[in-house]
Amino acid sequence: MEKSEMRKDIDHILISEEKLRERVAQLGEQISADYAGKCPLLVSVLRGSFIFMADLARQVQPFCQVDFMAVSSYGSGTSSSGQVNIVKDLTESIEGKDVIVVEDILDSGNTLSYLFQLLKARNPASLKLCTLLDKPSRRSKPITADYVGFTVPDEFVVGYGLDYDELYRNLPYIGVLKPQVYEK
Ligand code: IMP
Ligand code: MG
Repeated sequence: MEKSEMRKDIDHILISEEKLRERVAQLGEQISADYAGKCPLLVSVLRGSFIFMADLARQVQPFCQVDFMAVSSYGSGTSSSGQVNIVKDLTESIEGKDVIVVEDILDSGNTLSYLFQLLKARNPASLKLCTLLDKPSRRSKPITADYVGFTVPDEFVVGYGLDYDELYRNLPYIGVLKPQVYEK
């Protein structure tokens, strides 16, 4: 599928490449200032946050570390099942570290409230959440992010790492998927 072919499945572009670039740079500056003199460990929740993580990490100054974790809670539908599975755990211990979890989207909050409980029990020095997108209208767990890129309406979005049925992750912008794509 060519990118122009993918564009046909997108109803409209919600966040352009330029807006993403600007906002990710601001988040990086904010994190760099908040963690001055420290070396935060950025924990990317795969797979949705891989592009955001790569862009954000390059905006954090001067030092940071990265690690990756993979969870699944969705299957191929468009709403969370509530059942979270750890598919890949972190490579190293987070004890005593300043951890920032980097997520693509905070939706119902099921995934992150589960993950936060698990990570807290491992005694990090601090634990914060940075999410590119926040969909507060769908929240069912009491969880808020410390850093939010954009607050988005209750629409299913893809691109810049976010998928529908494992596709569209490589779109360079965030777009609203045409409902007929997942209704068919
Ligand atoms: P939650 O557990 O409902 O908060 O869902 C979090 C996960 O669901 C995210 O990390 C995404 O992978 C996925 N997700 C939620 N909303 C969307 C969306 O609009 N587009 C693509 N993936 C989404
Ligand atoms: Mg997903």
